[in-house]
Amino acid sequence: MRTTVIIPAAGSGTRFGADIPKQFVALGGIPIIVRTLQVFEETGAVESVIIAASQDFHEYLRALQSQYGLKKIVALVEGGKERQNSIMNALQTSICEASDVILVHDAVRPFITPNFITSIAEAAWQHGAAIPGLVPKETIKECSNDGYVRATHERSRLRAIQTPQGFRREIITAAYQKAQNEGFLGTDDASVVEFAGFPVHILPGIEENIKITTPLDFEWCQWRIAEKAKGG
Ligand code: CTP
Ligand code: MG
Repeated sequence: MRTTVIIPAAGSGTRFGADIPKQFVALGGIPIIVRTLQVFEETGAVESVIIAASQDFHEYLRALQSQYGLKKIVALVEGGKERQNSIMNALQTSICEASDVILVHDAVRPFITPNFITSIAEAAWQHGAAIPGLVPKETIKECSNDGYVRATHERSRLRAIQTPQGFRREIITAAYQKAQNEGFLGTDDASVVEFAGFPVHILPGIEENIKITTPLDFEWCQWRIAEKAKGG
């Protein structure tokens, strides 16, 4: 099973608010994106890595690649206006076309594990599409435009969805093509695949696999890295 991971890294990190895109901010001395890429170097489940990033950062990414000895990066592609456009650019490469399974993993989720990546890749092959999800800790309500509650959804039936998300190659490529043709914009890769009518299997996610979005997330990551260094 040839498996390729696409790492979308073309965001500007507005909510994070640093002077460089958050994926390049150093966490415990190592850029967040490098920490993420190191986990993919380690897992036996993935052969190739494609990064979607703004052209302005390609040279820097090449430098990080040699500095940290990242061997699996096979292509850097231009990012897009929306995350979905970034993924589309990566899907059009010949490496993706020659893969059996495509994973997509946010550059800013460095606490993913090699074993979990393997589980998602295997589930993607088995079910066609597989994603990790956690039962939300808080009650989730649907609201109206004028600031009232419209509905309270039963929490046990809800999932907060993470990456890596995994797909059989022909499913994700067909779904992204359909979304492009019909102008559908989803918030994650699975929503594109759902739009195209394919079933998506949900696995229990990992609580620690947070998406670094705000400075508070970063503070937690610094604490976690220090704990890990102490053997925790
Ligand atoms: N991403 C991307 N292309 C975009 C937008 C986002 O590749 N046009 C990537 C980000 O770099 C990140 C992942 O998608 O790795 C998840 O996005 P998010 O956490 O929203 O990052 P940003 O868009 O950078 O942050 P913000 O929304 O706060 O600006
Ligand atoms: Mg964003």
